[in-house]
Amino acid sequence: MQYGYFDNDNREYVITRPDAPAPWTNYLGTEKFCTVISHNAGGYSFYNSPEHNRVTKFRPNATFDRPGHYVYLRDDETGDYWSISWQPVAKSLDEATYEVRHGLSYSKFKCDYNGIEATKTLFVPKGEDAEVWDVVIRNTGDKPRTISAFSFVEFSFSHIASDNQNHQMSLYSAGTDYHDGVIEYDLFYNTNDFEGFYYLASTFDPDSYDGQRDNFLGAYRDESNPIAVEKGQCSNHTQTCYNHCGSLHKQFVIQPGQEVRFAYILGIGKGNGARLREKYQDLTQVDNAFAAIKTHWEERCSKFQVKSPNQGLDTMLNTWTLYQAETCVVWSRFASFIEVGGRTGLGYRDTAQDAMAVPHSNPEMTRKRIVDLLRGQVQQGYGLHLFDPDWFDPEKADVEPSKSPTVVPTPSDEDKIHGLDDTCSDDHLWIVPTICRYVMETGDMSFFDEVIPYADKGEATVYEHMKAALDFTEKHVGATGIAKGLRADWNDCLNLGGGESAMVAFLHYWAIQEFVDLAKHLGHDDDVARYQQMATKVQDACETHLWEDEGGWYIRGITKHGDKVGTAQQAEGKVHLESNTWAVVSGAVTPERGQKAMDAVDEYLYSDFGLHLNAPSFATPNDDIGFVTRVYQGVKENGAIFSHPNPWAWVAEAKLGRGDQAMKYYDALNPYNQNDMIETRITEPYSYVQFVMGKDHQDHGRANHPWLTGTSGWAYIAATNYILGVRLSFEGLIVDPCIPTDWPGFEVTREWRGATYQIKVENPQGVSKGIASIQLNGESIEGAIPAQAEGSVNHVTVVLG
Ligand code: NOJ
Repeated sequence: MQYGYFDNDNREYVITRPDAPAPWTNYLGTEKFCTVISHNAGGYSFYNSPEHNRVTKFRPNATFDRPGHYVYLRDDETGDYWSISWQPVAKSLDEATYEVRHGLSYSKFKCDYNGIEATKTLFVPKGEDAEVWDVVIRNTGDKPRTISAFSFVEFSFSHIASDNQNHQMSLYSAGTDYHDGVIEYDLFYNTNDFEGFYYLASTFDPDSYDGQRDNFLGAYRDESNPIAVEKGQCSNHTQTCYNHCGSLHKQFVIQPGQEVRFAYILGIGKGNGARLREKYQDLTQVDNAFAAIKTHWEERCSKFQVKSPNQGLDTMLNTWTLYQAETCVVWSRFASFIEVGGRTGLGYRDTAQDAMAVPHSNPEMTRKRIVDLLRGQVQQGYGLHLFDPDWFDPEKADVEPSKSPTVVPTPSDEDKIHGLDDTCSDDHLWIVPTICRYVMETGDMSFFDEVIPYADKGEATVYEHMKAALDFTEKHVGATGIAKGLRADWNDCLNLGGGESAMVAFLHYWAIQEFVDLAKHLGHDDDVARYQQMATKVQDACETHLWEDEGGWYIRGITKHGDKVGTAQQAEGKVHLESNTWAVVSGAVTPERGQKAMDAVDEYLYSDFGLHLNAPSFATPNDDIGFVTRVYQGVKENGAIFSHPNPWAWVAEAKLGRGDQAMKYYDALNPYNQNDMIETRITEPYSYVQFVMGKDHQDHGRANHPWLTGTSGWAYIAATNYILGVRLSFEGLIVDPCIPTDWPGFEVTREWRGATYQIKVENPQGVSKGIASIQLNGESIEGAIPAQAEGSVNHVTVVLG
């Protein structure tokens, strides 16, 4: 069953049936003002932090995604009313037609009902801390119509997200006021004229207004049947206390074939309502602001575009996967319909991996995130989660804003500078490849010399920070010389403590290799020698202690009591995705063992929805292994199809040269391919999710937690860099694909350091991997393609064979 389709020309997903089994969301905003909005216009806005500057209210975990950002229309001759989005009025789908276009940082709602065609386009203009609702109402009938329009948005009654649920004093401290087409909402106890003021304005002169929610909705009613809309008139009431809303009403007489257009503006900051009301009276300003959002994303997407025989891959890589990866980098992990702002901040490992995916499309944010992370690294080398409330806000940060807006935990705060017991074993290692990728992209070699303070004491260059990360893991190994598991590794629920993590050992090896490449490039021979030695030690330990000969795969770890996790004899948690993929991705193991390990992955972990994280799932609690053994079977880290590590398998297969296998796994996880099975998937088909229920769960195939997952970044990296094989090194641009044997070839346009590379890959012999020839602008070359002149357009032809 399907509820919509991909419109690639417009980079939109078009929902044609609004009764999808769950709210399908989108993110509006590219800077500080953000709205998470569903295809039924439910959702909420925040400024910078979803926890600390909540602008509009949202009731999480309810069966409805309410409230939202609604426009009601009323036929003033009959009293009949509806909403431009299907919800909240929810006209019968036999009477009304709805279409929703989720685009890149905008959502467009369209409704055709009883001779009135109405659209509402929501977006956040660049440079403004406000959301514009561009509304057009058209009379498609043959008689004049008298139509009233009403906005409705419920203001958050505290700027703190959780206070909306449990803080009754907020009911008595806030108030609305109305002047000249603007409802201004004053949070009162937040004395700041900017963050303490929200507003809803209209470009028309309203006929009536409401600032009190309960006046607008009426007692014992809800958003589906507001009394004000029923009557055709708001109460013209604003005051302090209770719950507040923004409703501005206007009646229009629309002649046949004619339309009216106006805008509502929802935003933050005292006086901004009046200013933007004035500005957007001229609706070409709305058009220009919308065009700027389109340009913003065209520029980002154009950095890497592919045309291949796989339409699902093209659609996702050209638009949606990059968009999702950028969303994670910009808004982190705490604003969705699942995570509703209960806490904010930057998870160390998540941020480091997210940033790895977007240096080409968003180098500024990548750099900022790297600096954030280095400022959150302690001198010993491990990383701290950055949970300071002001982490989003440059003005409040104690560092020069252009350098890093992040406030890192203060060194004296014992709770935040946690000890080793609370440290994750993988966090810090991810920054090494991320930094390398940022510099390969930008060419900014001086970044390695930039001095950045540690979170606890002292400071070091970026290069030394990277060494500290590698050295930390070298020092923290268990009995066999494999990296300790500590509080957790990448898997939050695998809590091996003083036991050992195979995945981290392999990850360490990979990070060392990346660093050695860098050290070679910089001519730091001492470091090359020292870290090569470190790599060899790690590799020896891995091959000696992690290979499970009977099964023919790599174990996942060793408990603090010396028991292996992931052996052939074990009935539960026999085979694991992370250790086997990382064995190959890292390059630490022989091709023979690597192939066997990945064959085991296929045999034990594959499903039509992607690869399971482990199988069989754990059924017996075992605290030596961790919380994973207490999670329900087939769910999340215990035997679900955990999406984030799936792309590691694509990289592994690409490294092994098995392109058909890499594409089999790519296609299985690709949400695009589940567009016609929404009855199983439930969630949106344009976003990867955190996990899909595994085969040990009754809802096998159901996708959970869309949007905010490291899957997007890794899916993007794995598919572009390893399947399509277009990636960077310190020496230049590499084209080294590993594709399905039945692909005759593909094309990529890559922009890098101001030059364009039009890459054509031909596969005359039907192979997966191997380069027969490379030509750059008609000349044969070997190896990496050096950076070409800024502004140049270069033709690269690669023949496989
Ligand atoms: C989600 C967390 O955000 C991420 O850090 C972790 O790696 C995965 N869960 C797996 O546990």
